Amino acid sequence: MQTEKGPIGVFDSGYGGLTVLKEITALLPQYNYIYLGDNARTPYGSRSFETVYHYTLQCVEWFFKKGCSLVILACNTASAKALRTIQQKNLPIIAPNKRVLGVIRPSAELIGSFSKTKHIGIMGTQGTVNSQSYPLEIQKYFPDVRVWQQACPMWVPLIENSEHMNAGADYFVKKYTQQLLAQSAAIDTILLACTHYPLLYHKIEAALPSHIQVIMQGGIVANSLQNYLLRHPEIEEKCTKNGVQSFFTTDDSAIFEQQAGLFYGQPIQAWQIEIS
Ligand code: DGL
Repeated sequence: MQTEKGPIGVFDSGYGGLTVLKEITALLPQYNYIYLGDNARTPYGSRSFETVYHYTLQCVEWFFKKGCSLVILACNTASAKALRTIQQKNLPIIAPNKRVLGVIRPSAELIGSFSKTKHIGIMGTQGTVNSQSYPLEIQKYFPDVRVWQQACPMWVPLIENSEHMNAGADYFVKKYTQQLLAQSAAIDTILLACTHYPLLYHKIEAALPSHIQVIMQGGIVANSLQNYLLRHPEIEEKCTKNGVQSFFTTDDSAIFEQQAGLFYGQPIQAWQIEIS
């Protein structure tokens, strides 16, 4: 049987997944990657389960058409609302030999080990918080850890509109961090459970007492991918290795190129595609 080889797909509703891709390419530069931001339909965080599932599945199918055997949903909202259904219902029918992975499980597997007080804060989109995915997953690995969640619905729109360095962002950083800490004074570890939030990292850290550590997912997901590829040579051998990255968006590619550098740390060239 002929083995179809292709790049590793990395998906987000917009720019956020670039903060994950940045860490993945730093750790695993040898592979080819293809990034898709569904900017035309972002944000996903406030949308229904059905809509996020439908949009995510369309994008996963696009990656498969581009020859990807492995797709990472570098979006907590898509991982929370669409991943399980895609893995269990769609993949066995449309692509039994391909894999789709998310960012919640690798983060949940590790986050408990960062906390001394065993009280962890999760900051994410409304969709991620409502799904209860983090409390459920973290319970599996750390049954003695208490999880406190805070939805931060204004953070993604502020970031997507380049307002995250302004005073409006200060207001909403203070508001959501205070709301989280009001739930438990024992929280000593906070996971930024949205791939957009690293852009607010310094403001979030500054708004918190210094004993609280703020954890970003990029490095965690990169390590987990490295581990996955070692454990799954049948998938690893289907990943092309020329160290090439290409970037696609469902919205205007010039705007994407302008914004993407903020998230990816270097200029990129992007192409616009249509998803239907
Ligand atoms: N970056 C996505 C996440 O990690 C959310 C952005 C959105 O709301 O579309 O959850």
